[in-house]
Amino acid sequence: MCGIVGYIGLKQAYPILINGLKRLEYRGYDSSGVALISNDINIYKKKGKVSDLEDFSKEKNTNGTIGIGHTRWATHGEPNDTNAHPHISEKGYFTLIHNGIIENYTHIKKELTSKGYSFYSETDTEVLVNLIEYIYLKGDIEAEMAVRLALSQVVGAYGLVISCKNEPDQLIAARRGSPLVIGIGNEEYFIASDATPIVEHTKSVVYLNNDNVAILKKNELTLKSIDNVPLSLTIKQLNLDIGAIEKNGYDHFMLKEIFEQPKSIFDTFRGRIAADLSEIKLGGLLDVMDKLVKAKRIIIIGCGTSWHAGLVGEYLFEEYARMPVEVEYGSEFRYRKPIINEDDVVIAISQSGETADTLAAINLAKEQNALVIGICNVVGSSIPRETHAGVYTHAGPEIGVASTKAFTAQVTVLAMMAFIIGKKRGVISDGDYKNLITELNDIPEKIEKILQFNDQFKSIAELYKDASNALYLGRGYFFPVALEGALKLKEISYIHAEGYPAAEMKHGPIALIDKNMPVFVIATKDRSYEKIVSNIQEVKARNGIVIAVVTEGDTVIKKMADHVLEVPQAEAALAALLAVVPLQLLSYHIAVMRGCNVDQPRNLAKSVTVE
Ligand code: G6P
Repeated sequence: MCGIVGYIGLKQAYPILINGLKRLEYRGYDSSGVALISNDINIYKKKGKVSDLEDFSKEKNTNGTIGIGHTRWATHGEPNDTNAHPHISEKGYFTLIHNGIIENYTHIKKELTSKGYSFYSETDTEVLVNLIEYIYLKGDIEAEMAVRLALSQVVGAYGLVISCKNEPDQLIAARRGSPLVIGIGNEEYFIASDATPIVEHTKSVVYLNNDNVAILKKNELTLKSIDNVPLSLTIKQLNLDIGAIEKNGYDHFMLKEIFEQPKSIFDTFRGRIAADLSEIKLGGLLDVMDKLVKAKRIIIIGCGTSWHAGLVGEYLFEEYARMPVEVEYGSEFRYRKPIINEDDVVIAISQSGETADTLAAINLAKEQNALVIGICNVVGSSIPRETHAGVYTHAGPEIGVASTKAFTAQVTVLAMMAFIIGKKRGVISDGDYKNLITELNDIPEKIEKILQFNDQFKSIAELYKDASNALYLGRGYFFPVALEGALKLKEISYIHAEGYPAAEMKHGPIALIDKNMPVFVIATKDRSYEKIVSNIQEVKARNGIVIAVVTEGDTVIKKMADHVLEVPQAEAALAALLAVVPLQLLSYHIAVMRGCNVDQPRNLAKSVTVE
């Protein structure tokens, strides 16, 4: 959470910072701020969106070719102008932006208070900037050394950029836990939480690793460890298209990303499925395939939507590879005493590749010598770098906070993995393998067909936009889809929604059903079709409203349900990829009609780098 951007070079920093902050707003959007460094330091901070900061700074002096900017997702202290970053040290020597949490900040604050320091904000960041200043003044040392010494006293996570008024021609950056990437331009450097603010300026980047400290000057970039050991620069080239991070005519990123799914799924299997549909190859897993095939158990870890994709993965691995699978929330797994064996394979799923709980769970699994595989979307992010092997989803940048195309891309990767392993373990025949690949290959076209019904979904959304509650039911592969449908609705429209296995309805949620309760049922034709038809009847018998996702041409449910949303026929294992699409669109339209900020729902952030 929180977005960081910095610039040092020959151009005016302010427009670069504001533009960068807008790109990073998905990481947090309760307040933002900039510091422009020229002869003086000018700091402007504002509660609200980056556009509020822009309005506020309109008549102000925004000159300067060096600057730092921050968009905040509050952890310590409510969102207001004072708690917004950048934070300045008491005597004005240092100005800091920070993403992460300083866990021992109360202890440090106490120490500093006893030395005469006082604090204007409630943030842990202000404590850190004062610690740096205290060490700097006491030791009469260079700013960069003061930063390193202060950070060695810190417990917690940080990605930070700091400027010192006595050394105004440089920015100092450091990372532990929270990502930072440096863009290399011509006599200029950029720094940001991810590559999106950088890509329009340069494609050459350096990713910071944990405990790296970088010193950025207009003509020079120095990298070292927190212990002052010089490090060489590994320069990578970004493979990111600027068009991919813009709305391209759509009203919202979320809508664009829903509509991108035929392409994002295709991109996820492109080059991996052989042209004659006879084989799937996942290059990132070749070295570990033997261990994967022989694994005794698979443990899938994720958070939020990625956890839902993991549940689909559980069913896929059980059915096609006949392997025992457990699906875990990163946050729960890491704080239990989980039993992990050397012949377990852990699969960590994450769109951002930065989720703190998932990362912590990965480290735990590595400590226990399990093979850890990542399924991530953001290239170069922390999880792909921390795992032994992995598969990128190639869904392209996902900016809308509510995950859509990342989910379907994750399920696509899990399906490919399950099919490959199933084939290698002799669970599925050559013929079945080929049929499954053909089915997967057809999915993008089938999603195109569903998207054509967008107007119908919109008119149904109109009818239920004022609901206070909603229930989502599904069986088998569609139970995770029900969870995901409910999550989409609640996170962007603030309607309370629950996802349930359809049969479990009788054990509680049925008590909620009345004529005001929309019940979304995923009822496409598969092996539990008859059962789900009975569940629909149970809802109708209690006057509930049924909105059913059905296989095209279904006439049985059409007679019972209030509305049907048709999706093409598909193999059960892959039908989750289709069934989720109408639910994404319904949630989107309901949220828009309720006047909600779809791309930046309240209190949420896309990349959750705090535990
Ligand atoms: C946040 C996002 C969700 C996402 C979850 C896990 O809650 O809002 O969309 O599913 O984090 O994120 P990850 O990047 O690990 O998939």
